[in-house]
Amino acid sequence: MRIGVYICHCGLNIASVINMDALHKKVEEMGDVALVKDIQFMCSDFGQEQLIEDIRENNIDRILVAACTPKLHEPTFKRVLEKAGINPYLLEIANIREQCSWVHMHNQSMATQKAFDLIKMGVAKLKLLQPLQIRTYKANKDVLVIGGGVAGIEAALTLADAGTHVHMVEKEPTIGGKMALLNEVFPTNDCSICVLAPKMTDVQNHPNIEMRTYAEITDISGSVGDFTVKGIQRSRYVIVDRCKGCIDQCSNVCPVEIPNPFDSGLGKVKAISMAIPQAVPQSAYINNEFCVGCGLCKQACPADAIDYEMKEEEFSFTVGAVIVATGYQGFDAKRKEEYGYSVYPDVLTNMELERLLNASGPTRGKVVVPSTGEMPKKVAFIQCVGSRDETVGNPYCSRVCCMSSMKNAQMIKERYPDCDVTIHYIDVRASGEMYEEYYVRSQSMGINFIRGKVAEVQPDPQGQMQLRYEDTLECAIREDPYDLVILATGMEASTTSDPIAKMLNLSKRPDRFFSIAHPKMRPVDAHINGVFIAGCASGPKEIQTSIAQGSAAAARSTRLLAKGELKNDPFSAHVDPEKCIGCRICEDTCNFNTIKVIEGKAVVDEISCQTCGSCSASCPTDAITMPHSTDEQIIAQIRAALEVKDEFPLIIAFLCNWCSYGSADLAGTSRIQYPTNVRIIKLMCAGRVDPDFVLEALQVGADGVLVTGCRLDECHYILGNHDAKHRMENLKEVLDEMGLDPARLKLQWISAAEGDKFAKTIEDFVDELTELGPVGSELPEVNE
Ligand code: FES
Repeated sequence: MRIGVYICHCGLNIASVINMDALHKKVEEMGDVALVKDIQFMCSDFGQEQLIEDIRENNIDRILVAACTPKLHEPTFKRVLEKAGINPYLLEIANIREQCSWVHMHNQSMATQKAFDLIKMGVAKLKLLQPLQIRTYKANKDVLVIGGGVAGIEAALTLADAGTHVHMVEKEPTIGGKMALLNEVFPTNDCSICVLAPKMTDVQNHPNIEMRTYAEITDISGSVGDFTVKGIQRSRYVIVDRCKGCIDQCSNVCPVEIPNPFDSGLGKVKAISMAIPQAVPQSAYINNEFCVGCGLCKQACPADAIDYEMKEEEFSFTVGAVIVATGYQGFDAKRKEEYGYSVYPDVLTNMELERLLNASGPTRGKVVVPSTGEMPKKVAFIQCVGSRDETVGNPYCSRVCCMSSMKNAQMIKERYPDCDVTIHYIDVRASGEMYEEYYVRSQSMGINFIRGKVAEVQPDPQGQMQLRYEDTLECAIREDPYDLVILATGMEASTTSDPIAKMLNLSKRPDRFFSIAHPKMRPVDAHINGVFIAGCASGPKEIQTSIAQGSAAAARSTRLLAKGELKNDPFSAHVDPEKCIGCRICEDTCNFNTIKVIEGKAVVDEISCQTCGSCSASCPTDAITMPHSTDEQIIAQIRAALEVKDEFPLIIAFLCNWCSYGSADLAGTSRIQYPTNVRIIKLMCAGRVDPDFVLEALQVGADGVLVTGCRLDECHYILGNHDAKHRMENLKEVLDEMGLDPARLKLQWISAAEGDKFAKTIEDFVDELTELGPVGSELPEVNE
């Protein structure tokens, strides 16, 4: 084994703080290093060429680069190693800029000592690294889109136009989703179906899209590149290819009338009907729950399209990626009893008003007061019904209700200019392109805005709806009668998406919408590789954002599958069957369902494994290894850091790759200074921290151990930090039993944006440990 160590000056970024000559000399004296060089800029062409030349001339077979954070140039140096003919995984980077020279600018001697320790720790790990091979495997290029709303439609068309074969599955008898039911859409006030219908037809006619409506997915198995999808095609009792969509002939003779679910139950519809006039496919369907089997529709159908014997059919196909666009469901206004919805007929929801305003709705676009049948003279909108409301468990804003109420208020004003229209709001949220102008236009049309919560809606003696409300701008409590009250109901996560979440093992946030891999950097990626989320499935949003997300999800899946093969860093967990006792702890720990105990032994789906390492930390027999951060490698780093204990107190800190390591880097780029007393070990997730690592550190001389990760509920592996918290809290009890102060183990959850919090954590921990004294000083003295 011949190790080369390269120390970067990074101009003066490192060299102005760290004594480069002293450091160079110390590394040379380490003994197990074949070559040491310090170079002005390692990442420059010169630095890279020097590395290649040295590797070839000196038979170097593994490299440590002491420079900036691995987040910046690890891929660069991996490519250099490959070029030089060395396995790219035989590389280690010591972060002596962001986590050393930039944060210890006023303590040059200890910064130099810390830089040396970081190099020593890197070399200790490097010696134990094994060459690894990137894994390449075939991927199916087809994509499943679940949901035929506007986000799903956009995703499907974007993919299909790019040549991808798409399977779209929609549970309703037509695609189009909620947008197809709206009257007009803000901020342009376009007719909703007019802009959507051409896209709906494009989906049906596209040669690359296989569309299934009135269908349900029953199972999804497999993983990225190779998902198997199973489902059921429900029976319409109407042959789609034969039905001409003439609808009147069959529905006119049908004797059964039911509330129309596509008109929010306001209008009536026959047991044989078409969801909306613009339905795609243009086909009737029979609601089997209500059909009396009289046979009249079959006799009336000129196309012989009715088939009472039609059965449900199973279907199955395979895809490489899945786009979940399952949308939302409206908040049930009955849950806000104080507003009298469903008790008083003149209290409606915004969606019901959309249908009344709609030319193809139950009143053909005429809005009347339900109890009197007269045109409205005074209309009130109540905002935030079921949104920003802890009492119904929805603390979030539904984002569209302010704009949607303004739009409907404008529609009423346009149709009935003398009507008095008032919007009762908490805060007006109008931050989008053209939204503020829209708000101003609403005001200039004479729509009143009153800021404050509405307490209740009650009928007054004249039969009008009396609103009791707060006017916070006038500091008054008032009561006003209206003849029509519209509740701006918010969005909730669709319960029909729950089975999909289960099948794909997707996680949901506390607000019950799907959580995404990263709210900023990966807004349409699910935590599961090869699964993308678009539109309101991941939270309330307006149509234009849903469309953008549909396109984004399509682009992400195209990028993933374009080559028809996938590559993986070979870091997935590996089980030693000799050691595995089949206890299933790893199976329960894995948040991605990638470990199964088969015939008494744990088996990892290496392609789906997310490499967090939580299973390895939980394994009671150490049967699970993470190839690029084995227990041995981590222990070797700990021991190297404590070989010569040159500071008191000395802290071993475990940082997760995604957030807390990012926060330490940010402290560096922000030049936030903190004590030198910490030696950092990077792991993929806080969940990788095995209690044995902590015990080892304390036993070989660390005065304290810091375990940090993403903020709770923001772990990139769903619950890795919760697992870590649970393990470490148990470990504190063990420390107590051992006579060690549990305060020597500190937990902290830090986002990548909190460099100051990381620095403060180190500062505080150093103070706390200083007070405690060196490790073991709390143990009773043993008399010889
Ligand atoms: Fe940061 Fe899990 S990835 S704690």
